[in-house]
Formats: sequence, structure tokens, C-alpha cells
Amino acid sequence: MSDLISALRSGLSQGTVLTDPDVTAAYAHDMASFSASGTPAVVVLPRTVEEVQHVLRTATALRVPVVPQGARTGLSGGANAGDGWIVLSLAKMDRILEIDPVERIAVVEPGVVNAALSRAVAEQGLSYPPDPSSWETCTIGGNIGTGAGGLCCVKYGVTAEYVLGLDVVLADGRLLTTGRRTAKGVAGYDLTRLFVGSEGTLGVVVKAVLALKPAPPQHLALAAEFPSAAAAGAAVCSIMASGHVPSLLELMDGTTVRAVNKLAKMGLPEETGALLLAAFDTPDPAADLAALGELCLAAGATDVVPAQDAAESDLLLQARRLSLTALETLSSATMIDDVCVPRSRLGEMLDGVAAVAEKYGLTIGVCAHAGDGNTHPVVCFDAHDPEESRRARESFEEIMALGLSLGGTITGEHGVGLLKKEWLARELGPTGLELQRGLKAVFDPLGLLNPGKLF
Ligand code: LAC
Ligand code: ZN
Repeated sequence: MSDLISALRSGLSQGTVLTDPDVTAAYAHDMASFSASGTPAVVVLPRTVEEVQHVLRTATALRVPVVPQGARTGLSGGANAGDGWIVLSLAKMDRILEIDPVERIAVVEPGVVNAALSRAVAEQGLSYPPDPSSWETCTIGGNIGTGAGGLCCVKYGVTAEYVLGLDVVLADGRLLTTGRRTAKGVAGYDLTRLFVGSEGTLGVVVKAVLALKPAPPQHLALAAEFPSAAAAGAAVCSIMASGHVPSLLELMDGTTVRAVNKLAKMGLPEETGALLLAAFDTPDPAADLAALGELCLAAGATDVVPAQDAAESDLLLQARRLSLTALETLSSATMIDDVCVPRSRLGEMLDGVAAVAEKYGLTIGVCAHAGDGNTHPVVCFDAHDPEESRRARESFEEIMALGLSLGGTITGEHGVGLLKKEWLARELGPTGLELQRGLKAVFDPLGLLNPGKLF
């Protein structure tokens, strides 16, 4: 047994150190394409804070890199392991420690699955809003690491807005507590926020204090058909400018709609240019939807179909949540982008993506958190064809360049990981990059925490 494995075993309970190569290979990477991964030396599945501390002390003593992982549903390679690394999976630390309706907080371990938390707090009349499409499997720790978003962010905001405090094990094994469990608190720098979206490069989250909201009333949704994605983008601007607060405002372009129909026979309109899905969870959602429907028609919608009840509304959401899986069936490989632009530029972004698809002769389906200007262009290509793979990669880069030129960001909610490293440098500029590297060095002077990610 190597020094690393025996040192890890000396402080971890039985069954938490996995070295079978078939098993460790399964933990080597997340769901991103075009992101290299190596062969990890070992996978550890600690159950306690002390065990995580032992792993990091061992890693520091032996100078072995560590990649923290949740459910590996990430889309940027942020959870990918390198050769000889320790994979530190937090999946077994999955207890909900506390739900407090007075403080409106939950205290959780990082391996708690997003949907499990949502269901648990719902039993007490509360909600934890951030709802990535992978919510049935992704973990809160992973959501914090990537700064995850979701469908209801247009009304309720992203993960960062719900993380009040953290317990974090640092690279050398020290335990840091950040933030608060009070409604307010401004003591010192906001280290909590710094950890959100840090992709496992600064420390390992072992506990989180999360803000909760009262559970909203049932939502009601509608689908509006548009002749083009850009026309739906114009409707989004008019909806947002009118002061409406939809709990969901999502877009599926024609390619995506047809892919979802093919996969799930959902009966969505085959010939449409784009569908806009909107929902309200207000006291009178039907009235709000009617007003929103009028705005859609004024912006060029050819049809507006309100759902009759909550079950029909859920079906529409389900169609949207299936978008990615459906687009993935169109080709042997996909690259999923995550460019977020100001809402006012959404139409230009969508037209621009269509132009990129035409230029490179590729299918690029788009689904989007349209109300946030957050687009997911999905480049479909044949991974066995090197020339087509090159075109896919180039079109992906061009889409990011387009987003930046429109005043947007290269990632709204998936993170940088390996996939967008060069692009982070472009977005931050030299001063921003230098300061971020300086922060990394403060927390992780030996560069052992998920090295090579972000920058
Ligand atoms: C979604 C994922 C890709 O919105 O973020 O479905
Ligand atoms: Zn998304």
C-alpha cells in the first residue's frame, strides 16, 4: 500500500477509502465535454468534519492535490481529477442538521441533495428556491462550489443569495467558520460570498447555513409561441420592463422544442420558432398570466396557451428541464454553454448564436433562463469526427466572445472549471486575474486544492 493510502486509512473509518481502479475511474470527472481528467490515486468518502480535516492534513503533509466533489453533475470540468490526486467526495455527509422556521434557515452538510432539502423544508411551509435542472441529484455543496442557479432564479435569485454562513476546512486542515446565522451581519470581509463559486479551490465546505423563504402559493404557467427566438427575447424585455415578477421565464428554441417532443412525446408545437414559458406564484396567477400573455402577443407571439392547473404547469416545466437531455440525443456529443447577457441584449445573443450555427454548419439548440438573460446554447456534434469536433470547439468559443461583446459574462451559473479557463482571464482582465490569484495563494499557499481550475 502506498504511503498516501496508509496515511489516509489511519484517520478514516472503514469503507471510506476506495482504491479499486474501476471505482476511482467513475469519480474522475463531471459531465463537461472537452475537459481533460486523469487517474485519481484514491477516492475518499468522509462522514465527519474531523475526517475531512484528516484528509486535508494528509494531502498537505504529502503534497498531494485534492479535488472536492459533490454529485459530479457539473458542466465545466470543475470536479475533474488529475493523475494521482485525492478525490474528496462529500456525498456521504448528507445530513440536514437543522431547519429553523423562526430564523428561516436550514443548516446542512454539503452532500445533501438539493431536492431532498427542498422537500424537507416544504414540510415546514418553507422553501429553498435555487433549483438547478439537476436538482434531483446535485448536492448543496456542489451548488455552493459552482454558484449554481436554476429556473426560479428570475424571481428568487441564485445560490449566493441564500448562503449565510459556512464551515470550511482549509488546505492545511484548519476549520474556518464564516458568516452568520442571523438575519443581518456585516462583520469583516464577506468570506462566505467568496467561497460561493470558488469551485473547490479555496477550501472544502463541510457545513452551510442557508436562508429559507416561506413556501410560495402554487404556481401557474403558460407557454407562448413565437416565430423566432429573438422575438421571444423582445417579449422578455417588455415583461421585465412592465414590472411583472414571474417565478419562471424560460425559453426553448425550435430545435430544443422538437428535440423534447422526439424524446418525450410532450405534444409541444413542432413548427414553432421558440417557446417562452412563464409562471407566477402570486395570489392571482391567472390574472398575472393573462396580462403577461397580452405582452407576449404585442411582442409578436402567434399563440398563448395557459396551463389549466398546477399539474399542467408542472408538465411545461418538465419539458424545459428535459431540454438538455433531449438535445444530447441529437448527436454523439454536445458542448453546453452558459453565457449570460443583459436582458436587453438577449435578442442579439440569440440571433448571434443562430448565425454561429450557420457559419459552422452545426446544430446549436438553445434553452435559456430568459428572464435572467442566461442562455444555454448547446452545440451538437459528432465526437468521432475530428473536423466537426474542431468546428464545435470554435463555435463554442465564438459564442463566448459574442456574449462578452454584448456586455455579458462567460458563465451565469455553471462555473469556469477547466472548460473556460482562458476565457476567465479575458473576462477579468490582468488586474482582476492577479488579485484572484493572490486570494487563492492566501487560502491555499501550496496550490493543492483543485489546482489548474479557474486560472
Ligand atoms: C439547465 C442547466 C443546463 O438550465 O443549467 O438546464
Ligand atoms: Zn441552466
